[in-house]
Amino acid sequence: MKRDIQERIQERIRFFRSFLAHPRQVGAVLPTSRWAVRNMLDMANFAEAQCVAELGAGTGVYSGEILDRLPPDGNFLAFEIDPNLVATLRERFDDPRIRIINDSAENVQDYLNGAKVDIIVSGLPFTSLPENVKQNIFKQAIRVLAPEGVMLVLQYSPLVQGDLTRMFASVRRRIAFLNVPPAFLFACRTALGEIPRR
Ligand SMILES: C[S@@+](CC[C@H](N)C(=O)[O-])C[C@H]1O[C@@H](n2cnc3c(N)ncnc32)[C@H](O)[C@@H]1O
Repeated sequence: MKRDIQERIQERIRFFRSFLAHPRQVGAVLPTSRWAVRNMLDMANFAEAQCVAELGAGTGVYSGEILDRLPPDGNFLAFEIDPNLVATLRERFDDPRIRIINDSAENVQDYLNGAKVDIIVSGLPFTSLPENVKQNIFKQAIRVLAPEGVMLVLQYSPLVQGDLTRMFASVRRRIAFLNVPPAFLFACRTALGEIPRR
């Protein structure tokens, strides 16, 4: 979907306003660059995903690229806690596959009707969220992820890697040097049949 430069600038202004209102919750002054978005999404197979959940969708930089990669019958739940950013997402996306949910990523399971998620995409700022919120979100992710599922995580520091290696059986890492600042990208899996270490 081609979007004009004015729309992009408007979205950046809204994002920055949300950052000023809730710096620790938003955790970045600008949305993620498209290089980092593509680099991270390339770590999972969206073409075969039936259910994808995005945590902290912001202005939708990941959401648009996820929709481009998702099959026509795929389901996509996009969680965003900030009502102003939710309004931006609702203006931007008119696609029957996406459900934009104004709730915390701590409550993903409440929206799944027992289904499992093939791919979780997180842009949440784990290092600046309260510790209990961070732990609740990791527990939710482990609970809702399909056995062969993958959780993709973008962070601006490697600090969260310790949590990820404790929670998941395997963690792969890439660094997106073209993002400002450079971003750490993780692909985390609970190997089939293994009990995750908590
Ligand atoms: C660093 S921004 C990333 C936004 C977007 N994914 C991107 O890459 O540009 C983090 C986003 O997570 C949202 N957020 C923070 N805590 C959340 C929570 N508990 N549940 C859902 N969204 C949350 C913030 O409002 C913000 O939009």
